[in-house]
Amino acid sequence: MCGIVGYVGHRQALEVVLGGLRRLEYRGYDSAGVALLDGEGGLAVERAAGALSNLEKRLAEVDGGKFAGRSGMGHTRWATHGAPTDRNAHPHRDTSGQVAVVHNGIIENFAVLRAELEAAGIEMASDTDTETTAHLVAAAYADGPTAGDLTASVCAVARRLEGAFTLVVTHAAEPGKIVAARRSSPLVVGVGEGEHFLASDVAAFIEHTRDAVELGQDQVVTITRDAYRVTDFFAQDVEAKPFSVDWDLSAAEKGGHDYFMLKEIEEQPEALENTLRGHFASGGIVLDELRLTEQDLRDIDKVFVVACGTAYHSGLLAKYAIEHWCRVPVEVELASEFRYRDPVLGRDTLVVAISQSGETADTLEAVRHARVQRARVLAICNTNGAQIPRESDAVLYTHAGPEIGVAATKTFLAQVAANYLVGLALAQARGTKYSDEVAREFAELSAMPEAVRRTLSTVDQVRQLGRELADAKAVLFLGRHVGYPVALEGALKLKELAYMHAEGFAAGELKHGPIALIEEGLPVVVVMPSPKGRALLHSKLVSNIREIQARGARTIVIAEEGDDEVRPFADELITIPAVPTLLQPLVSTVPLQVLAAEIARARGYDVDKPRNLAKSVTVE
Ligand code: M6R
Repeated sequence: MCGIVGYVGHRQALEVVLGGLRRLEYRGYDSAGVALLDGEGGLAVERAAGALSNLEKRLAEVDGGKFAGRSGMGHTRWATHGAPTDRNAHPHRDTSGQVAVVHNGIIENFAVLRAELEAAGIEMASDTDTETTAHLVAAAYADGPTAGDLTASVCAVARRLEGAFTLVVTHAAEPGKIVAARRSSPLVVGVGEGEHFLASDVAAFIEHTRDAVELGQDQVVTITRDAYRVTDFFAQDVEAKPFSVDWDLSAAEKGGHDYFMLKEIEEQPEALENTLRGHFASGGIVLDELRLTEQDLRDIDKVFVVACGTAYHSGLLAKYAIEHWCRVPVEVELASEFRYRDPVLGRDTLVVAISQSGETADTLEAVRHARVQRARVLAICNTNGAQIPRESDAVLYTHAGPEIGVAATKTFLAQVAANYLVGLALAQARGTKYSDEVAREFAELSAMPEAVRRTLSTVDQVRQLGRELADAKAVLFLGRHVGYPVALEGALKLKELAYMHAEGFAAGELKHGPIALIEEGLPVVVVMPSPKGRALLHSKLVSNIREIQARGARTIVIAEEGDDEVRPFADELITIPAVPTLLQPLVSTVPLQVLAAEIARARGYDVDKPRNLAKSVTVE
């Protein structure tokens, strides 16, 4: 949620900040704003509700000279406190207009802080929790032990805040300096020649430098043109962790597509290849950062998978693989529900936390809860050094590359592959699979990028279908076994992109209620299992299709090449390559992603930035 950029250096800060915000707009697009320091005590702020383009238009209308400084910051907002209006857009200022603040996260004790400030006679100019921090920093800078020291003032304020936050602060009296504090919310420092950057995500500064520094929990960073300094909330120096970003600008650009999502759908074979690469060595599966012993893995008697949204759907698939290969019970749970129902956890429980961003608040809190209960936590994550992997006992990174489209596509496939690697690693450690069986499963997994490539080469038919379905009122999705999570994922994609009513069902449940929804012409997408691998399930699904067809549904069937049995019952047949059952979701999901994107485009929606959504959900 919310994208933050800060810059101090030798360039025109406005250009750098706007360039960074463009790359971070996926994090929130309710409003945007910038604050620029002119180096002579002037602090210019401009904000606008809506997309970043509104802010850019407004900036083009105002006097350019005002925004010519070489240090500044910017923000794209996903609203939590206060409506998405100009008044609530960041940056927020103190009453003197000397301090400007941008913020990501939620300040949980803001009501108390606000009451305290109002009692002291301060009139609030917005409805946000953020604004309180601008007034608090101004007061700390004006008076008392931190007077005249921006870093110390920010530290003092950060110590008073509860909740999760990244706070970036500037003061007109200290141009050429930006101070940021972080707790449970992302912030990275970019290190250039005579310039430094701050951002929620490296994508914001990758154009200028690949040298970055990761900030830890409860840390403050001060950047100037020539240096950066990292401290704790008590202004004591701490060691920071430098790293180098291993992807370049082209990975974060659209590459000729209208939307990032369309490019990301096409990148799925590479996402799978990169996720699998290097994980089979010396005759076995190797995970990335494993701070658990082989004995720990052998002792596990229960697995919980926790995740949200699309990552949760990938987790549902993990259950099929892990139970099948490892003979250990697996429960899959929405991270937002997990800690509130008091799950039974202990040292022999493995909690697998799946998160593309590694910063989803619900999943992070589930991880923390699991660790307090002494369970072992293994994170599957696409973002190096994010909070969830940092707080876990083991990590397996999905190397899908940056995913900018809000709808998860390539990271879903990469998560499914990573889940299967975890299943195989567990099977190997626990001895439920011989090493040659593990090697065979890995080889089958390694053949999937090619199968996905073949699937992608046949999606024109799906695009055409998407355009035909643009006016449908609703679409249902049915599947059985591993086809069921795929049905859920297909429905989620359609809801979030096309704002269309869509539901995924286990096909066997149809007769227990949902069949009442079937009416003349209702499109129903059915994900068929393999006629050979799952003959019994296949024939049951054929019966389900006949039932809905008899009631007037328009049947859109996704089936393996050569599945002639289902052909007569498909109003529209979409074929996918025949692959082993557990791996079928890696191909059957692809047409559903394309379908949702195409329906959304036909309805005139921005598929990268669906309304009301943000890429990373850092609030509970
Ligand atoms: O970053 P995470 O994987 O933890 O995000 C979880 C969900 O918010 C995410 O998958 C969301 O459902 C996507 N927008 C779905 O396309």
